[in-house]
Amino acid sequence: CGIVGYIGNKKATEVLINGLSRLEYRGYDSAGVAVSQGGKIHTKKRKGRLKVLEDLMEKEPLEGTVGIGHTRWATHGEPSDVNSHPHANADHSIVIVHNGIIENYMELKEKLIIKGYRFLSDTDTEVIAHLLDSLYQGDMVKAVREATTYLKGSYALGVLCHSEPDKIIAVRKDSPLVIGVGDNENFIASDIPAILNYTRNVYLLDDKEIAILTKERVIVLDQHGEEAGKQIFKVDWDAADAEKGGYEHFMLKEIHEQPKALRDTLTSRLYDDKKEIVLDKIKLGKEELDKINRIYIVACGTAYHAGLIGKYSIEKYARIPVEADIASEFRYRNPIIDEKTLLILISQSGETADTLAAMRLAKQKGARVMAVTNVVGSSVSREADDVLYTWAGPEIAVASTKAYTTQLACMYMIALHLGMLKGTVNEEELTKIQESLKASPEMVEKVIKKESAIKEFAYDKFNVRDVFFLGRGSDYYASLEGSLKMKEISYIHSEAYPAGELKHGPIALIEEGTVVIALCTQTELLEKMMSNIKEVKARGAYVVALAKESDKAIEKEADKVFYIPDTQDDIAPIPTVVILQILAYYLSVARGCDVDKPRNLAKSVTVE
Ligand code: G6P
Repeated sequence: CGIVGYIGNKKATEVLINGLSRLEYRGYDSAGVAVSQGGKIHTKKRKGRLKVLEDLMEKEPLEGTVGIGHTRWATHGEPSDVNSHPHANADHSIVIVHNGIIENYMELKEKLIIKGYRFLSDTDTEVIAHLLDSLYQGDMVKAVREATTYLKGSYALGVLCHSEPDKIIAVRKDSPLVIGVGDNENFIASDIPAILNYTRNVYLLDDKEIAILTKERVIVLDQHGEEAGKQIFKVDWDAADAEKGGYEHFMLKEIHEQPKALRDTLTSRLYDDKKEIVLDKIKLGKEELDKINRIYIVACGTAYHAGLIGKYSIEKYARIPVEADIASEFRYRNPIIDEKTLLILISQSGETADTLAAMRLAKQKGARVMAVTNVVGSSVSREADDVLYTWAGPEIAVASTKAYTTQLACMYMIALHLGMLKGTVNEEELTKIQESLKASPEMVEKVIKKESAIKEFAYDKFNVRDVFFLGRGSDYYASLEGSLKMKEISYIHSEAYPAGELKHGPIALIEEGTVVIALCTQTELLEKMMSNIKEVKARGAYVVALAKESDKAIEKEADKVFYIPDTQDDIAPIPTVVILQILAYYLSVARGCDVDKPRNLAKSVTVE
């Protein structure tokens, strides 16, 4: 979900709708706004995309200059008008928007029902509105502070109160919230792009801090009610950076941004003449590393796929045992963690609920935490001991592209950094992989030039029902990401398998015309892959191979080949995945799917 709030001289609904449109990637099954006007708080909310709400606002405009808004991704209660935010108490004098999940809402709800409160929706959020009502005695800040002592779970809240009409009150815990500071106007938002059209000055709220916004000023109190003494954070990237810039979809724009994103991520860290890699915010030195005997890489979704390549590379270059794990699995399996553990987290947003929870669990048990994230000021970046940013810029399309390739770049650099500290990587190896890394932006440029051929192929094959991806080693990890891209945006059923596992099951599904995408970029495993291709061809499969330019022999086996430039094997996933991103993109376009906002998915999953 995403929230926005405005207080100033402008018409609030305009600012709110504008902000919400930039937060739609956080969820988009319903939207709503509440505005103070003529001594009352008016709420308009609708199931469906923001456009539905916009149309309603055109017919029934609100003129007030103080308001809050919300775009929802359903958790408790199906998408519907009544379950949409804002929610209110019975007489509509307290109106709120909420992002997060209140874990003890059933318990609170029962208590409130005994006190005589009536509930209209199935949401956990409505509980907060009634709870505030039950605590309110003329001072909303006090009521909010008290409410935080009852609420368990995560929340970013924006509150309007009828008796204090010149104020917005905001608080957060475990859900992101920023406060925008303007000139005679102030803002709240789940994320910076929502308010970047209006201000570049923001406060990043910490857990349980309460912000009180009036038109003229913002006061931030800590959880004890003292002024928190916050520093303004100046945003130095552009609103235009977060917009489509002439491309039909954000995803295509972001695919094309990869050479730049990779350059930005790599250049300052790979020095030309020095045999070293300088990782800005990584303080972990030789002494600390010598104490580490186990590494976990923990993440969700695409970031997890980058983690698998991280595992492969760190084990290869630093010779430390590494486990890559999905955050929602890791945290519930009582993992073995102590002071000798290094936890590496990968998260584009830096706000994914399960990833954050895994980090906190590991910290509690004494592990050192290193984060790879794209968002400066995100929760992960603030709580980790070491941070390496992927300088990919804002990623808006739900399907991750440039965040993934820059995460790969970071994982290679971390592996080399650790390898050098350990003394397990020799100079020759280091130079070779550094050179390949430096060349990766150019490799991606070359691959992007094949866009029209990939598009043509996608338009030819867009009707397929199932696709199987096969690969070995790094190719297998890259194929997992290729398969995820395909299923999430084109809704084609696809699976990725280690090619050696083929005979243990999936080969039963291969029949005449089944499309198999075989990744064959790993030199030492090429022969093995050739045999696997023969096996599926013999059962009627249509095989698309991805291989290095000089491995032309593959043409004899496969029906169709897409080449990546020749490169060091470890780096091959970068250009390989770009081909698979472009393929997934055009399959999605050809099938008429909503590329940037695939059904049922959200960009930032801030609930468990
Ligand atoms: C969501 C997004 C994915 C992303 C995953 C992890 O599922 O749709 O694209 O990979 O969350 O997000 P993070 O921000 O932690 O990388």
